[in-house]
Amino acid sequence: MNLAVFASGTGSNFQALVDDPAIFPAIKLLVCDKKTAAVIGRAEQAGIPVFVFAAKEYADKASFEQEILDELAYYSIDLCVLAGYMRLIGPTLLGAFQNRIVNLHPSLLPVFPGKDAIGQAYRAQVKETGVTAHFVDSGMDTGPVIAQEKIAIEKEDTMETLTEKIHRVEHRFYPAVVKQLMASRKEVE
Ligand code: GRF
Repeated sequence: MNLAVFASGTGSNFQALVDDPAIFPAIKLLVCDKKTAAVIGRAEQAGIPVFVFAAKEYADKASFEQEILDELAYYSIDLCVLAGYMRLIGPTLLGAFQNRIVNLHPSLLPVFPGKDAIGQAYRAQVKETGVTAHFVDSGMDTGPVIAQEKIAIEKEDTMETLTEKIHRVEHRFYPAVVKQLMASRKEVE
């Protein structure tokens, strides 16, 4: 199975996927929407081709998603793995990759969707939060859940310690989910 990872920023989750010897050979492409993103350097270091684009240079989402689709076809991509890709996926990509796009979100969806999910949970003073892997649909973090892991928020946690805890879990959790998908081609029921 050939994977494309989509990311916009630091790319620590991209790195966790690259560092897994069972996943690395399957990663054929990084798709990135930010020319200055640190994740690009990580891909270059790993020898993974990068398709980087600036949305504002296109007329609309359909135009850049069509170019992404061409890249996905070139590399015979089967599964798109979003890891901090800060854009909603539009009908062009969704139509071509139905139930073949997965995302990682740092909360126990359906609670705390959207941006700053860790901060949302922290400020809400809930006792636990977590991470979710889900298939992507047209909504913001609304697609069918594949797997979740809970993380306790302790009294002494700060935003920094909570963020660190969540990232530590993500870096173990997401590669495990991706491997499960690669092995079983889990479908949406
Ligand atoms: C992660 O917390 C992920 O859950 C969210 O975006 C963040 C990406 O972090 N979707 P990184 O770029 O992988 O370090």
